[in-house]
Amino acid sequence: MREVDRVIAKKLASDVPLVAEVSQYIISAGGKRLRPALLLLSCGALGCQSLERHNLAAVVEFIHTATLLHDDVVDESIMRRGNPTANEAFGNPASVLVGDFLYSRAFQMMVEAGDMQIMRVLANATNIIAEGEVLQLMNMRNADLDEASYLQVIRSKTAKLFEASARVGALLAGASQADENACADYGQALGTAFQVIDDVLDYTGHADVMGKNLGDDLREGKTTLPLISAMQRGTPAQCALIRLAIESGDLSKLDQVIGIVKSTGALEVSRDAAAQEAGRAIAAARSLPVNPYSACLLQLATGLLERDH
Ligand code: IPE
Ligand code: IPE
Ligand code: MG
Ligand code: MG
Repeated sequence: MREVDRVIAKKLASDVPLVAEVSQYIISAGGKRLRPALLLLSCGALGCQSLERHNLAAVVEFIHTATLLHDDVVDESIMRRGNPTANEAFGNPASVLVGDFLYSRAFQMMVEAGDMQIMRVLANATNIIAEGEVLQLMNMRNADLDEASYLQVIRSKTAKLFEASARVGALLAGASQADENACADYGQALGTAFQVIDDVLDYTGHADVMGKNLGDDLREGKTTLPLISAMQRGTPAQCALIRLAIESGDLSKLDQVIGIVKSTGALEVSRDAAAQEAGRAIAAARSLPVNPYSACLLQLATGLLERDH
């Protein structure tokens, strides 16, 4: 990963000082670098050490970072990676524009890599992430959102880039169609589980560990799985309270909502859903050649359920 960070640092160079400043600000704040890891591990699991892998790993991290810059503007979030968000520190216009810079830098780097199949996968993924975010926007403050619609949003906004990262690793390795599909399935399932856990943490996590604020989803009126399950299982009065909180984004009810989410068993239901997806990821990883890289993919899928940030 050190090599990926070296590429990232080099490719952030810009003659425009604010571009360099904002992009360094968000990138050097850390982040788990999960998507690059998926790309490198998939590639490694299939026996490939192509030099291009570090550049493409940096590409997926750039796409991810661009989505975060835009997402924090849309969500009006104030904390990310333990720091004030870029929109908080530099304002919305700088965040949106530097997000565009990162997207387009990622495209320049993809073109340099010169593989049409890989470009297609990454271009499609970027497009679907944007659709997922718009779909989520359309679902805002809709307390009637069902599990299928929720799943559609998270498969697009989050799982798609995980899927693309793993698929690109396989493509770089010149994998068989079966291995490529296994990597893509792994990424999709892992990404879905990852977002479900993220949505659980929004009600149960600790801001200092997560580096993000709790309750953001409720404030934005996002009907995520913990709330959908709580409304399915709660009393009419509990449902009414959650519905009102979603529709109004009134955070003064956050403690009560958390209480209901906990007492109805909605957290367990959500964690079970994540575990099921993680199980799908594990099954896909098991079909890959056995080596330290695929072992790492397996470990990631198991560890994910315990994550607290
Ligand atoms: C944050 O992704 C956005 C979601 C999909 C929940 P990560 O949790 O991977 O963010 P960083 O890169 O580690 O900060
Ligand atoms: C993550 O969505 C953003 C993208 C995947 C594009 P969220 O809004 O749920 O993630 P956080 O909580 O801000 O990290
Ligand atoms: Mg957000
Ligand atoms: Mg979230």
